[in-house]
Amino acid sequence: MVNIATYFQFVNFFARVFPMDSKEIRQRFLEFFKARGHTIMSSSSLVPENDPSVLFTTAGMQQFKPYYTGEKNAQEDFSSSSATSVQKCVRTSDIEEVGDDTHLTFFEMLGNFSFGGYFKEEAIKYAYEFITQGVKLPISYVTVFEGKGSVPKDGESKKIWESLGVTDIREQGMEDVFWGPTGDSGPCGPTTEIYCRNKGGEDVEIWNIVFNEYFCDSNRENLLADKATLTALETKGIDTGMGLERLLTTVQGKTSIFETDLFSPIITKIEEFSNSGDTKAKRVVADHIRTAVFMIADGVTPSNTDSGYILRRLLRRSVRYADTLNFKPNSLFRLVETVIDKYGDVYENLKINKEKIKQEVEREENKFRETLKRGLQEFEKGADPFLLFTSYGFPLELIKELAVEKGLKIDEEKFAIEMEKHQETSRAGAGKKFKGGLADAGDEKVVQYHTATHLLHQALHDVLGDNVAQKGSNITSERLRFDFAHSQKLTDQEKQKIEEIVNQKIEEKLPVQTIVLPKVEAEKVGARMFFGDKYGDQVSVYFIGESLERAYSKEFCGGPHVGNTQDLKGVFKIVKEEAVASGVRRIKAVLE
Ligand code: SER
Repeated sequence: MVNIATYFQFVNFFARVFPMDSKEIRQRFLEFFKARGHTIMSSSSLVPENDPSVLFTTAGMQQFKPYYTGEKNAQEDFSSSSATSVQKCVRTSDIEEVGDDTHLTFFEMLGNFSFGGYFKEEAIKYAYEFITQGVKLPISYVTVFEGKGSVPKDGESKKIWESLGVTDIREQGMEDVFWGPTGDSGPCGPTTEIYCRNKGGEDVEIWNIVFNEYFCDSNRENLLADKATLTALETKGIDTGMGLERLLTTVQGKTSIFETDLFSPIITKIEEFSNSGDTKAKRVVADHIRTAVFMIADGVTPSNTDSGYILRRLLRRSVRYADTLNFKPNSLFRLVETVIDKYGDVYENLKINKEKIKQEVEREENKFRETLKRGLQEFEKGADPFLLFTSYGFPLELIKELAVEKGLKIDEEKFAIEMEKHQETSRAGAGKKFKGGLADAGDEKVVQYHTATHLLHQALHDVLGDNVAQKGSNITSERLRFDFAHSQKLTDQEKQKIEEIVNQKIEEKLPVQTIVLPKVEAEKVGARMFFGDKYGDQVSVYFIGESLERAYSKEFCGGPHVGNTQDLKGVFKIVKEEAVASGVRRIKAVLE
């Protein structure tokens, strides 16, 4: 028998010589919370199934939203009032920053969650124990909420930290230490954050502990502008989030996220392909490919809409950066395997989808190169650079870069004006849902489903009455998904009637046309809009029928759509109808 003290000495020695790697940290975290009564839950998909208001999962708490709002009961579902997970997340709002030491578009979030169970005291104590003992990091300082409006200052957290011997406690405002909501509404509340010192001597935020106490009826922007209403949640909850990559960087004593064991094999592989020393470009490729691999494994494919557009943008940026690194053309997909080697044991679906992921990456690179070639010819012939965006699907930032690279002049002012105009049209359309005007023949099916969605929207009004406001929409090349307000399950007769109407409109071979109108005019003609989106003063309206007056469907929308309903290939069929939230139903339908 080994003496226990000797055993611990050995463990400590080992930890010093071989710092913890990503696998061990994930494991330790989950085990730590399991030992404290939490149920270990798997990461949910990067594409949220039940939250039409966001394109990607951005936080660990998202899959648990219904437990905070009381729509679901954790005890009933997993016999515990607390859970822990390592959640795959995507956030692309800081995409331009990727390449420095800290920014990523994909990350894993370690989290522990309580739904009406423990609250501030335990949450803070657990975090303190895990940081100082579990991964042996000294805490530099913590933050607490200073109070605003109806939300009081968080004196309780301050006291708890003091009782643990933490002396540097800083008060901050709503921008920094009040979390949420994600999307258009949801749970939110004050937070306390833990900061630790990294190798560069900087204090970085390691852990965010949210006290979910409120339900916000609007998005975060409105909350910060005092334009939202907070109501107390019946069940208070805890939602914590700690970025694995950032924690690892600190624990492993590295300066950059890209030096941790999660990235080093990818960077090494990139260096095999490249003879360039450009660190930023290598990091961008490593980051974007990793994100793309995870997205494709979760069912996203490159397209011009929604999550598919974000994926396309990541892959196209990777191609551009790979070019600056002198990669052989069409070799990006070779990095897929390296990413999967690192992550496959933790995320099985990467291994299962390996071939598909490689194919998608390769296909998108080829497609982009084709477009690039055609677009560049136009560009060099003096075409309006903006055409590259509207007709060739070039990411806007690439157009500027290309112009610089090729020594071509772009009229900055005109570009800015066109951009603004385009944004208006995009906003006029379903904003974040459909980027207006991007042509892409490869996405025929998505475009067909988009038009079918308009027909379905009108058919729902015809069959169920005018209270069926749109709550969300999501389209892939395999199906359409549409969320709308309605309080009951649809009957078989209702579903059948809806299908019949849509199929009849397809048979009628109606033209699909567009017109730009002042917003007030568009409202006057009764065009349907999606209240989740913001619209500019000029809006584009798609109508299905011979004339605007006699059209079957009219909607504020940025397109793209098929030219005629006869282009919808197949028979429209509802494959699923279910509730997603109270008073919100979801239809999934296909054209078969
Ligand atoms: N939801 C919080 C965050 O994303 C804590 O998990 O930071």
